[in-house]
Amino acid sequence: MARPHIEFLQNQSLPWEAEPLLPGAWTRTLSRDDETGACTLLSRMDPGLHFEKGSRIAADEEFYVLSGCYYLNGFEYAAGCYGYYPAGHPRAQAYSSEGAVILRFFDAEPRLMAADEPAPADHAPAIPFIDAMRMLWDRSVFDYRLNHLAAGRKILRIDPVTQQKTFLFMTAPQTHPTNWRGPKEHHPTPEEAFLIAGDLTGEYGTMRPGSYFWRPPGIPHGPYGSRGGSLCLIRFVGGAHVNHWSESQHTFDYQQAYEPQLPPELAALALPPAPLENPF
Ligand SMILES: [Fe+2]
Repeated sequence: MARPHIEFLQNQSLPWEAEPLLPGAWTRTLSRDDETGACTLLSRMDPGLHFEKGSRIAADEEFYVLSGCYYLNGFEYAAGCYGYYPAGHPRAQAYSSEGAVILRFFDAEPRLMAADEPAPADHAPAIPFIDAMRMLWDRSVFDYRLNHLAAGRKILRIDPVTQQKTFLFMTAPQTHPTNWRGPKEHHPTPEEAFLIAGDLTGEYGTMRPGSYFWRPPGIPHGPYGSRGGSLCLIRFVGGAHVNHWSESQHTFDYQQAYEPQLPPELAALALPPAPLENPF
C-alpha cells in the first residue's frame, strides 16, 4: 500500500540496520511505500567509510546532511548541504573521516543498477550541491494565516514537471496562533517533515529534534506554535504545494500530549518520549 500516515515518530526509537552492500553504513527506515519501494531513510556513515566507485541507484535521490562530513563526487558535503541525484547518477570517490548522518529520500525502490544498465533518459537535471548554510532565509512570500510563526524558507528544489517541493522551514521562538486559536490546513499532496532543531507543537504533541512525519493528502492539521524556535526539512511530494484552510477555528496548547498516528507495525513507538533534560 501507499505510505501510511505516520505522525510523528522519533527516529531515535528505531534500530540502525546494517547496509549489506556498504560496510560501515547503517540505515533507519522512516517511511516506505510497499508498492513502489519509495522511501525516506536516515543513513549513518561510520568514520573511515570510503569507496572509489559506488553503485548507481535506480531511483531519484534527494539527500540532506544532518551532521558530520564526507567527500563525494568532488564536493565536500557537511551539515546543511543538499543534493539531488536522479536515477543512474554516478557516485565516486567517497570518503568520510569523521562519519556523517544523512536524510535520504528515494522516489522508487533504491535498487542497485547493473553495470551496463542505461540511466533513464527523461529524468530531471541533477543538483549536485547546495550549501543551505550559505543561503539567506526567504521571508517575502507567505500565507497570511502563517504570519504568527514569523517563519522563513530556503527552497532546495522544485521539480520542473510535478512542482514537487523540498525546502527548509524555520519558525521563530515564542510563536503561537493569535489568541491561541487558528484554522487547520490540508494539502492535495503528501507532506513529510523532519525536525532538525528546536521544537514545534501541534495536535500530535511537540516534535523535537529527530522527529519525523509522513502525512497522506487531505488530512487537516494545525495550528502550530514553537517555544524555542524550530528548523524542519519539509517536502510536498508528487505535486505542487497548495494550502487549503478550514473555516473552523481550533485551539492550540504548548502542553499538547504526545498522541501519535502510527500504523500497527510502529504502534510500540507511541509511548511518551523521555522528558527533555531541563537546562534551567
Ligand atoms: Fe501542512
